[in-house]
Amino acid sequence: AAPVDVDLSTLRPGQQVVVVWGGKPVFVVRRGGEALQRLQDPALDRRLRDPGSHEKQQPRYADNWHRSIVPEYGVLVGICTHLGCVPKFRPVPDPGAGFPGGYACPCHGSRFDLAGRVLSGSPALYNLPVPPYSMLNATRLRIG
Ligand code: FES
Repeated sequence: AAPVDVDLSTLRPGQQVVVVWGGKPVFVVRRGGEALQRLQDPALDRRLRDPGSHEKQQPRYADNWHRSIVPEYGVLVGICTHLGCVPKFRPVPDPGAGFPGGYACPCHGSRFDLAGRVLSGSPALYNLPVPPYSMLNATRLRIG
């Protein structure tokens, strides 16, 4: 697939932009400080099916708690790993429902955190994949 460049300069914390790469939606999300803290919460790890993302291929530079090159920016293939619907962006946490903020699939209710990691109890079994990408500079990234 041809590479797609994404301008990050207008993306504010808590926002995401969706681009199409190789016919697939790719979510590029900017995570603010509180969202990054929530991703590191050990209590969250216990509610994730695969907190370390060991079961799904991802680039080596995403083998970390934020699953990305720069913690602030997440890059995820926006296709539910259950049956392929496009999850909705739900960045606001709902502690009462045990939801840290992230993504909710409209089809069968799978839920993912803001690093694309699937919450236990979802029908999806795998975290959202991280596509190959690079940072061109501080405010521009290239997918593919
Ligand atoms: Fe997302 Fe089934 S396709 S939960």
